[in-house]
Amino acid sequence: MSKPELGVCYYPEHWPESGWTDDAARMVEMGISWVRIGEFAWSRIEPTPGDLRWDWLDTAIEILGEAGLHVVLGTPTATPPRWMVDRHPDMLAVSKDGQPRKFGSRRHYCFSHLGYKDEAKRITELMAKRYGANPHIAAWQTDNEYGCHDTILSYSDAARAAFRVWLRKKYETIDALNTAWGNVFWSMEYNGFDQVDLPNQTVTEPNPAHVMDFRRFSSDQVVDFNRAQCSILRAYTDAPIIHNYMGRITDFDHFAVGADLDIASWDSYPLGFLEDRSDQGEDFKHDYQRQGDPDFQAFHHDLYRAVGGMRNGVSRWWVMEQQPGPVNWAPYNPAPLPGMVRLWTWEAVAHGAEVVSYFRWRQAPFAQEQMHAGLLRPDGVMAEGGAEAARVSKELLALDDADAGPSSVAIVFDYASAWAWETQPQGQDFDYFHLVYDVYRGLRRLGVSVDIVPPSCDDLSDRALVITPGLFAWTDSLRAAMKRFEGQMLIGPRTGSKTDDFAIPASLPPGIDGFDCKVTAVESLRSSGAIDLIDGGCFQIWREFAETSETVTETGSDGHPALITKGKLTYMAGWPDDRAMTRILDKVCKRAGVETTDCQLGYRRRDFGHYTLHMNYGAKAVTHTGILLSPADIALFDNKAQSWIIKPSP
Ligand code: GLA
Ligand code: GLA
Repeated sequence: MSKPELGVCYYPEHWPESGWTDDAARMVEMGISWVRIGEFAWSRIEPTPGDLRWDWLDTAIEILGEAGLHVVLGTPTATPPRWMVDRHPDMLAVSKDGQPRKFGSRRHYCFSHLGYKDEAKRITELMAKRYGANPHIAAWQTDNEYGCHDTILSYSDAARAAFRVWLRKKYETIDALNTAWGNVFWSMEYNGFDQVDLPNQTVTEPNPAHVMDFRRFSSDQVVDFNRAQCSILRAYTDAPIIHNYMGRITDFDHFAVGADLDIASWDSYPLGFLEDRSDQGEDFKHDYQRQGDPDFQAFHHDLYRAVGGMRNGVSRWWVMEQQPGPVNWAPYNPAPLPGMVRLWTWEAVAHGAEVVSYFRWRQAPFAQEQMHAGLLRPDGVMAEGGAEAARVSKELLALDDADAGPSSVAIVFDYASAWAWETQPQGQDFDYFHLVYDVYRGLRRLGVSVDIVPPSCDDLSDRALVITPGLFAWTDSLRAAMKRFEGQMLIGPRTGSKTDDFAIPASLPPGIDGFDCKVTAVESLRSSGAIDLIDGGCFQIWREFAETSETVTETGSDGHPALITKGKLTYMAGWPDDRAMTRILDKVCKRAGVETTDCQLGYRRRDFGHYTLHMNYGAKAVTHTGILLSPADIALFDNKAQSWIIKPSP
């Protein structure tokens, strides 16, 4: 394996050329080996149509490369210049209420617009031609953060035209579409594909099958857009191709986009995410305001490890952007506790990150992100985050083999299920990500290291326990893998409750051969309406009524089955709160022979290679199995040498 390395995002076009050499030297001095550039620089590369200005970029690449840095070059397609909108006025994505989005920030394009797609291909090819063989360019990034700022779904004319083509390809005849969608309902039958519109601005809710196909189509448009860039790049370069995904974005199938890439990466903003996209309550946000949710980053590290391509049997993924200090975009933007930038970096390494790259080098004194910290302050003086990054770069040298080998526990994560339950939540609090993440958090609280697997997974043989929360429709591969699988499976709630066509399966869910269990009815619950479980904790948000002749291993206080077990299969007929989740997971882990430990407060651990990383996300010191950790501190144990590489707090 290669040793984990550090990187940084840099915008030479934001700074006078006279400072680039010094910047590069300081990066190297800090122990940084990768630098990402270019991803927003279109207006400087091509200020007016066809007028290409490569000189400055040539120079920047030369300076960075000569300093010893590997350059990641981004295609600039997330920020088409203003003249592009003059050329293609209808290229803007259109919001659900029919309003075109405007120029003046970024990501102002519709994935279906053919004119813009051609422009994106054109600039990609120009860059690939010029830099594909440049020895300093060691990787490419396509676009930037697909899906950021709610930009996957577009209700434009271009999207409508492309959707019709997509539907025709999928269904071939309009009768097939009418049958699949159940359009006899409310006289929604179509006479031809050209009558099918996008599912927005309907009087009341549109047909869920219509919405689901629109979601699949919209995801496919991203795959297409990205693939076009990848095939161009591959014609000119052998360097790996990467995209930087985000936290809690489920609007497109990352596994499908990932199939065209070599490395998955994501942008990790622990404090921004806690404020901006966490389901946790006020107390939790208060307790972790300077550390971030102890499990949110870990979940995404594991998810993107699954999305990444393989090299020598090891999945390739990076953190492309790591928060270095306060950000500008969350409702509140506190500063991290001293030590957290180091801890976040180490946590990523412990999940197998090849590179952790900070966003950004120097804080910009102008425009939208002037309040966003960098490793350096706007005046060029090293900020706290920079000092911590420099410290980690030295510590990393002590690692030999840091591979995140397969974990015995796997959770199936399925983007289509996220679309399905957004389309038909059947209770406003039902959210697929939230459900899967609750399971993940439960496992982390038990000290269990987890792998995420896609629904197309056809081999579970490495696993002792596999969990499928909320999987809307079974896939053939998963069904087949399950039959051969000898470990434990925890299934539900809502798993197998729809067909691919978004209908209730004839034999009722969960629909597992040889497992006599039928979900006959379901209910969603307000927060005050949770159903207590006899063994402790409750079902919240969602609960199911099941008919079964199998063994009922847990019951609700109202007498209805909560857990139903036969041999290796356990069905969970509701959404457990944290207390019930911990108990249920502990029980299935024990049955599967997976060791658990009770993680107190902010203590977390992660096993990787022959190491164990111990972390304290808490704002108070914590002791676990005799290991004392100060707030934001870490300790690293080498299980092979039986010695500490980084000692716990004294
Ligand atoms: C995202 C983007 C970056 C920058 C940061 C700010 O992750 O990719 O360009 O806007 O957020 O946190
Ligand atoms: C949004 C995203 C963040 C970041 C900011 C940048 O809020 O959620 O990741 O990209 O935009 O402005």
